[in-house]
Amino acid sequence: MLIANTPKVKAFHGGASFEFIGSRFDDLSRVDQCINADVLDAWFDPSPMVIAKIREHLPWILRTSPPTHCEGLVQVLAEQLNVSAGNLLVGAGSSNLIFLAMLRLLSKNSKVLTLDPTYGEYNHIFEEVIGCECVKVPFLHEERGAYSLPISKLIDVILKARPDMVTLVNPNSPTGTLITKEELLRLRHAIPKETLLWIDETYIDYVDTSQSLIAYAAEARNTIVCKSLSKVYALSGARSAYLCASPEIITGLSCFSPPWAVSLPAQIATIAAVQDRDYYAKRYQETSEYRGLLAAGFRDMGFKVHDSVANFFLAEIPDRFGVASEFVQDCRRFGLYLRDISKMGSHVNKRMVRVAVKDSQTNAKILSTVKHVLTSQTQQS
Ligand SMILES: Cc1ncc(COP(=O)(O)O)c(C=O)c1O
Repeated sequence: MLIANTPKVKAFHGGASFEFIGSRFDDLSRVDQCINADVLDAWFDPSPMVIAKIREHLPWILRTSPPTHCEGLVQVLAEQLNVSAGNLLVGAGSSNLIFLAMLRLLSKNSKVLTLDPTYGEYNHIFEEVIGCECVKVPFLHEERGAYSLPISKLIDVILKARPDMVTLVNPNSPTGTLITKEELLRLRHAIPKETLLWIDETYIDYVDTSQSLIAYAAEARNTIVCKSLSKVYALSGARSAYLCASPEIITGLSCFSPPWAVSLPAQIATIAAVQDRDYYAKRYQETSEYRGLLAAGFRDMGFKVHDSVANFFLAEIPDRFGVASEFVQDCRRFGLYLRDISKMGSHVNKRMVRVAVKDSQTNAKILSTVKHVLTSQTQQS
């Protein structure tokens, strides 16, 4: 017996399109025959600088051991983020860092607080892997039918529950809602200093990195920012991420990080990506435009679309059609993968799907497929 809890299930994620593509990758041309709008990977390619560097040296990159503790990667990230190298711990994707950190920061006697709904891996690791108490704060405003929670209310819940850690995904998935930096700092100052604040900023660049708490986390002793580089630098396949926190926290966690934790392709790709700010800034601007157009298309078909600041949004299927689980299956028959979010929270409407924003051509295909599915459901009823 290696660990106290041996969960029987894995957390539920998107990525079902690999059932169609094939996870042995025999025929990668199948990638173009489906739309994976159930995962939140970037719709754009990594910066041309990333591609050029990797392409030019690919055989060497594949056969060579990377710098053992990602020294250059940590230095470049520190320069770009204006923090010290001692504030950073890098890993092969934030999932890797979430598992590494949570298993050391918490025990089965801990209490954590999360929003409901939120990114499913958090509740999975808290409840199934560590087996600790998890207080989930529902924040769907019943009367307005929108996701919102005044910060003073969240502070009240935290003060009452007294958790060891508060975990906030900001902007949150699947809701696409943002807690502003100002509100977060108000929360940080109002809650006990012993309470660790974990902020997952996977999607923050789609809003504005001035909303990030990275600079604060580097100075404070009780705040950790977890940053995936997957979704905003188009590096989901490469696997790259970092934690930013006080040197004490980082030193305490880094001894559990193995050598060569980030692959050489991922180290090289990340260094090139974070230095090409202009390229990515344009992509975030386009994402916001595409989100507006795609959301309008869903509204025109009768969906209730929830406001979002990120590269995805929630859409509620009109009453006369099937629930999300059926609708998602119907769309899959036409190669469109959407996310039924009913398993992402305990207070989630069964008619809600999460839609990832893609490029304009793919978004047009998403809309025509959804229209086709709705029409065929009408004809069958
Ligand atoms: C909020 C959030 N955090 C973390 C992750 C994990 O990302 P990765 O392991 O690719 O860095 C995801 C992935 O979807 C996510 O949505």
